Amino acid sequence: MKTIKITRVCAVAVILLCLVNTKTHAQMEETKVDINQKVESLLSQMTIEEKVGQMNLYNGFWDVTGPAPEEGNAALKYDHLKKGWVGAMLTVRGAEEVRKVQRIAVEESRLGIPLLIGFDVIHGYKTLSPIPLAESASWDLQAIEKSARVAATEASASGINWTFAPMVDISRDARWGRVMEGAGEDPYLGSLIAKARVNGFQGDDLSAHNTIAACAKHFAAYGFAEAGRDYNVADIGNGTLYNTVLPPFKAASEAGVKTFMNSFNTLNGVPVTGSSFLQRDILKRDWNFDGFVVSDWASINEMIPWGHAKDKRQAAQIAANAGSDMDMEGYVYIQELAQLVKDGVVKESILDDAVRRILKVKFELGLFEDPYRYCDDDREKEWTYHESYREAVLDMAKKSIVLLKNDNHLLPLKKNGQTIALIGDLADDKSSPLGSWRIASDDDTAVSVLEGMSSYKGNTLNFSRGPEVFEGTSSFLQEVKINTTDTSGFDEAIATAKAADVVVMVLGEHGFQSGEGRSRTNLDLPGLQQELLEEVYKVNPNVVLVLNNGRPLAIEWASEHIPAIVEAWHLGTESGNAIANVLYGDYNPSGKLPMSFPRNVGQAPIYYNNYPTGRPTDKDGNVFWSHYTDVEKTPLYPFGHGLSYTTFEYSNLKVTNTYKENQEVKVSFTLKNTGALKGKEVAQLYIRDLVGSVIRPLKELKGFELIELEAGASKTVEFVLTKKELGFYTNQGEFVVESGDFKVFVGGDSNAELEQDFTLE
Ligand code: BGC
Repeated sequence: MKTIKITRVCAVAVILLCLVNTKTHAQMEETKVDINQKVESLLSQMTIEEKVGQMNLYNGFWDVTGPAPEEGNAALKYDHLKKGWVGAMLTVRGAEEVRKVQRIAVEESRLGIPLLIGFDVIHGYKTLSPIPLAESASWDLQAIEKSARVAATEASASGINWTFAPMVDISRDARWGRVMEGAGEDPYLGSLIAKARVNGFQGDDLSAHNTIAACAKHFAAYGFAEAGRDYNVADIGNGTLYNTVLPPFKAASEAGVKTFMNSFNTLNGVPVTGSSFLQRDILKRDWNFDGFVVSDWASINEMIPWGHAKDKRQAAQIAANAGSDMDMEGYVYIQELAQLVKDGVVKESILDDAVRRILKVKFELGLFEDPYRYCDDDREKEWTYHESYREAVLDMAKKSIVLLKNDNHLLPLKKNGQTIALIGDLADDKSSPLGSWRIASDDDTAVSVLEGMSSYKGNTLNFSRGPEVFEGTSSFLQEVKINTTDTSGFDEAIATAKAADVVVMVLGEHGFQSGEGRSRTNLDLPGLQQELLEEVYKVNPNVVLVLNNGRPLAIEWASEHIPAIVEAWHLGTESGNAIANVLYGDYNPSGKLPMSFPRNVGQAPIYYNNYPTGRPTDKDGNVFWSHYTDVEKTPLYPFGHGLSYTTFEYSNLKVTNTYKENQEVKVSFTLKNTGALKGKEVAQLYIRDLVGSVIRPLKELKGFELIELEAGASKTVEFVLTKKELGFYTNQGEFVVESGDFKVFVGGDSNAELEQDFTLE
């Protein structure tokens, strides 16, 4: 029995990790030609209405991610499916349900064109990985790719063939709730993660039954929503657009992502859904992107309240002309576009271009060969909540944890003879760790910290909930209600803490407090949690604070007083086990922050790659320099920060500048594990271009490597800087490398101080 089990798990690992591409380059070229011919042949048979139909994406169920549209009703949708007026559906899920809608499209419509079935597989489908921001804290590209692979495998067995991920929006503002869904503040790290996620979802062969089309979203600048308020304007300069916002999208496009999604925001006054500049000029022309662009949920209609279109007809005209190829649940294309073409306002060639792109993806997915490819009941039964996924998401969860502080080696906890007080409503929560995007997952399926820690039997574990943090039940659609008045549970928690050797407090945000529509103007611990922390600390200062949150929090008091702080985000299904493994030292943490943690909310937006300013320091002892009078201008925890149970030392930095001869600058240094334990370090390399025609940031990440070293061991680490790393985009969008003086820095976070100079001639 045991052997069979092991063999099956190994087989799974092989399938997950080694999805080998069996097609040669020549075969792939042949397939492309073949697909193009098939697309043309099909297109030539389509009526205008059928073309518009391919550009129409309907939601399957109500109330899932947006307001139910006035016109929405199932009967209409079924009728449109039969007429071939639906190109894709979202949130229809499960092999049986998908088969039902697919069957109507394929067997009852005139041309039988199969549907794309989209779903927000953001950090897993049923088995959940850590939220994307947390995964990004691992800086482990292979693990991130594997996590997307696992998600694609589970979702594709349930009928899904298209995910609305990865979200590659860079954001510097923790007030914006959607930072949980991205890779943080840095375009270099964000680009590599975008690529890893696209590869994970799409694999090497999109037509395999366990790979799905990915979608880079939200194009573009959604992460720069003013004041962190969701759906707001984004007013940014071209330098920020080209150097910060666009790189992860470009990386996704270069990785072969099949689709893009536009967004709800404006960019410098134009709703991006209607932006030809972004969708036609940059994406489709400059980057040669040959997939399609889907609107965000009714974002075409939203051009009306934005004041950019006077009615639906004009909204449809603007969006189609601007290169939005598919209308998500907006009913605008289906109602307006055919007439616009007949009236000569929108050219039919615009429709042809959109439909070609959409059909191409359907052919590449293999849907014309077998529209039911993703609807196999046996596969669904076998692969839903598969045991191998739990190992994978546990591994990812451990890698995502960041040790922010660990004074006097309070962590790891001793395994025997201790009395541990575990305190906090969130410690016993099996729902919150599932995060925000968990539509397909079953509620309360996360391992809680209480469960995770209970499996360590050598200590006495006393749990006390303390006051409730949240009132009632929370959901994807509603605001989370916070308890700010009911203090019951305080006294018991304090007594439990007093009687313990060490107190573990699990505090933070509910999984539904970050995500879409979850902007906050406070980045503190919600409700009575700060008060509880301070009261507990008074009776027992041996506190380990475990944070659960979907965004950087402002925890200045905790950082000053609490000896050990573990950033554990929302870690998904295996959350509690991962946290317990780290607390007890069975896993040595190696995560590093992908976003700066502010001291207080007034510092937002805060990011490491900021600019020097004309008055960077206090020269004359007066107030006239760029600073705040009430708080330091530096973050509480910088980008890239994260400790280990061992320590690392950086030395011997050397720069070999051969840029003039072969356009390369080589950087090497020694990394040594100076502690007593084996551990992993994300060695980071930053540069500064000292003088630029456009000012350059104080530091820019341009390389990193995740390195595991035995205690006492060292390694020579090498990086090569080329044009790509040394150049930047001008305000005209031109990529240039300028001669002059540079600095290179290496270290374990963005404060990296070991530095060398070099000059590009
Ligand atoms: C979100 C998208 C998501 C879509 C479909 C929208 O509200 O902004 O990110 O993919 O809904 O659920």
